[in-house]
Amino acid sequence: MTIFLIGFMGVGKTTIGKELGALQQLPVIDMDHFIEAKEGRAIKDIFKEDGENHFRAIETVVLKELMTKEAVITTGGGIVERQENRDLLADVEDVFHLYCSFEVLWERLKEDSERPLVQKNSMDGLLELYNRRLSLYRSVSKIEIDTTFKTIDETISELERNLQLG
Ligand code: S3P
Repeated sequence: MTIFLIGFMGVGKTTIGKELGALQQLPVIDMDHFIEAKEGRAIKDIFKEDGENHFRAIETVVLKELMTKEAVITTGGGIVERQENRDLLADVEDVFHLYCSFEVLWERLKEDSERPLVQKNSMDGLLELYNRRLSLYRSVSKIEIDTTFKTIDETISELERNLQLG
C-alpha cells in the first residue's frame, strides 16, 4: 500500500505520517528529507542557490521514484503546483488531503525560518497561495481530513478509519 499525505505547509504531514507509518507498519518517506539527502543540502539552500523551478524539477523526479514504494509518503506543500505531479497523484488510491484553517496555520508558520516561501511572502501573499492551492489539493485527493480542531491522535484515527473503508 502506498499512502500519500498532501496539504499546506505546517499542517502536520511529517508528524502525522510518522505515526501513521508506525501504526500501519509501513516505512515513512518524507519527500523534503529525501530531497535534502539526495542533494546534500537544505531545501532553503536549493531555493537560494538554484531557484524554486529547480526545486520543483527535483521534486517531480523524486515523486516518480517514490510512487511505487510500499510506504507512507509525506509530500512538500507545493507538490500540487505542477500539472505533471497532479496527474501522477490522481492515479494513486490513497491520497489524503490534510486540511487546516489558514488562521491556525499562520500562527505556526509566522516564526518559521526554514521555509523559503514563508520568508518570501507576507501573510497576505501566503493566504493567496493557500487559497489557490486548496482546489489543487482537493482535485488530487479522494479524502480530506479537517485537522483544524483535532489532536494528532484524532487525525490519525480518522485516517485509519478511511483506510479501512477504502
Ligand atoms: C513548500 C513546502 C515545503 C518544502 C518547500 C516548498 C511549498 O514543505 O517542500 O519549502 O511550496 O509549499 P512542507 O509542506 O513540508 O513545509
